[in-house]
Amino acid sequence: MNIQIINGPNLNLLGVREKSIYGNTDFESYLSELKAHFKNIDIAYFQSNVEGEIINKIHEVGFTYDGIVLNAGAYTHTSIAIADAIAAIKTPVIEVHISNVYKREEFRHHSRLAASCKGVIAGFGMHSYRLGIESLLIS
Ligand code: DQA
Repeated sequence: MNIQIINGPNLNLLGVREKSIYGNTDFESYLSELKAHFKNIDIAYFQSNVEGEIINKIHEVGFTYDGIVLNAGAYTHTSIAIADAIAAIKTPVIEVHISNVYKREEFRHHSRLAASCKGVIAGFGMHSYRLGIESLLIS
């Protein structure tokens, strides 16, 4: 099974950025834990701060991979182009957020992507990614 994790803008700064919201762990350290947890799954990781690069990655894996776990960061709340990319592919996409976006500013309460995704997981810290992968194993 192949799963692609895609992180969007500013998520390269996990462990440094707003630690009270996003925690102390950088994504690479967490990724090693994830790979150890899901030994039988090939987990690929991509991060970009650039909307078009995220879209290109969705197109690249979206017809062959078994699942995509996507944290599009702030593009979640703005990007019709990423929503269209998710709608265009065959691979199921799980939208994930580290923070509980519904407890935060109102502009974070709406996702432009969720309607094109299989499901949404938010608010479990880094474990949102693990839950995202587990949700792909259900069906
Ligand atoms: C985030 C929530 C978004 O609102 C924010 O812009 C992010 C991170 C999260 O993982 O909690 O960059 O997607």
